[in-house]
Amino acid sequence: MNENLIIFNARIVTPEGFTARKGSEMAHLRVIENGTVEVTDGIITYVGQNRGETRDGYYQHYWHYNARGRCLLPGFVDSHTHFVFGGERAEEFSWRLKGESYMSIMERGGGIASTVKATRELGFLKLRSAAEGYLKKMSLMGVTTVEGKSGYGLDRETELLQLKIMRSLGNDEQRRIDIVPTFLGAHALPTEYAGRADEYIDFLIDEMLPVVAENQLAEFCDVFCEKGVFSIEQSRRLLTAAQAYGLSAKLHADEIYPLGGAELAAELGALSADHLLQASDAGIRAMADAGVVATLLPLTAFALNEPYARGREMIDAGCAVALATDLNPGSCFSGSVPLTIALACIYMKLTIEETITALTLNGAAALRRADRIGSIEVGKQGDFIVLNSDNYHILPYYIGMNSVIMTIKGGMLYP
Ligand code: NIG
Ligand code: FE
Repeated sequence: MNENLIIFNARIVTPEGFTARKGSEMAHLRVIENGTVEVTDGIITYVGQNRGETRDGYYQHYWHYNARGRCLLPGFVDSHTHFVFGGERAEEFSWRLKGESYMSIMERGGGIASTVKATRELGFLKLRSAAEGYLKKMSLMGVTTVEGKSGYGLDRETELLQLKIMRSLGNDEQRRIDIVPTFLGAHALPTEYAGRADEYIDFLIDEMLPVVAENQLAEFCDVFCEKGVFSIEQSRRLLTAAQAYGLSAKLHADEIYPLGGAELAAELGALSADHLLQASDAGIRAMADAGVVATLLPLTAFALNEPYARGREMIDAGCAVALATDLNPGSCFSGSVPLTIALACIYMKLTIEETITALTLNGAAALRRADRIGSIEVGKQGDFIVLNSDNYHILPYYIGMNSVIMTIKGGMLYP
């Protein structure tokens, strides 16, 4: 449902543009004091100074919202999550607290495989209602567009089920969040294919990609390109096939081991490379040159106690950096946007302005939507957040606490 809405007396704070902001451009925000935005049928039709509310009675068909000087930002875009899954993995977290590593738990059959088991056991309705619960939480933190991945089915039926759940949630008339689905069949090797990773890639290429593409169940294809999971060669083969089906490439790249995922992303012209904790200097330069969005997930580094990705250096090298939560039941059971912001500023050395661009316009670019969302500009969707203050510097200062008092989606208010 879309609405007509006037928000006035706002301190509008937004990046500008219809493509990703790279390097030093990320720090440039437009700030409008005493600002108004007009949203007509869900789309922004005016951004500027307050201009009086009457306009010959025209505005009687609009809802009015007095922001009372508070900051109005574009809605957050969480461009990397795994929010459709069964079960939880609290035990695993406790093993990691005792010193066991994420990869060693995965190697002995836990990790992603245990969520696959739980996901395969749940039906459509239970999986859908669990996923819906996460969407509600995200919306309260200001997320207006979220990407979600399959990857907890690893068989035909359950992979398609995850994608169909996302479609069904996205079609919900009352939806507070737009959902962008990604096919991540190459998230781990299912036990049925133990020792036969190349054959599993063949299965994904021959039997899954055609169905996913034909039914438009996903826009992107992702792969966990990691030592001991899927190799550079296997990732290249899968993503090249996906591109031929019209699915843009995304990679879980260089998360635990510097395998060269960033370089592969650049070679393939991928839309984004994500994680990048171990990305090499050459990989960072290659991403900057190729225009690959570097999507950083500081909550995962925090939760796994791994070193943070080199966000500052990536921006200084000219990359477009996005930030996302990576919400998933294993490596990062958190969708906290406020904590993401604090960690990005404190440990990755992003400025507050860069962090805002990374969570809005560059997140949109990582989902090929920078022309539609991610900034407050005429022609874009009426997706905003209202902060609890006239000062956007509260964003990292509120450590893990929500400073968003209102999320606005397509002109609809969600307090
Ligand atoms: O982005 N690294 C691979 N995939 C997820 C974790 C999935 C899981 O542990 O269930 C990630 O961190
Ligand atoms: Fe992930």
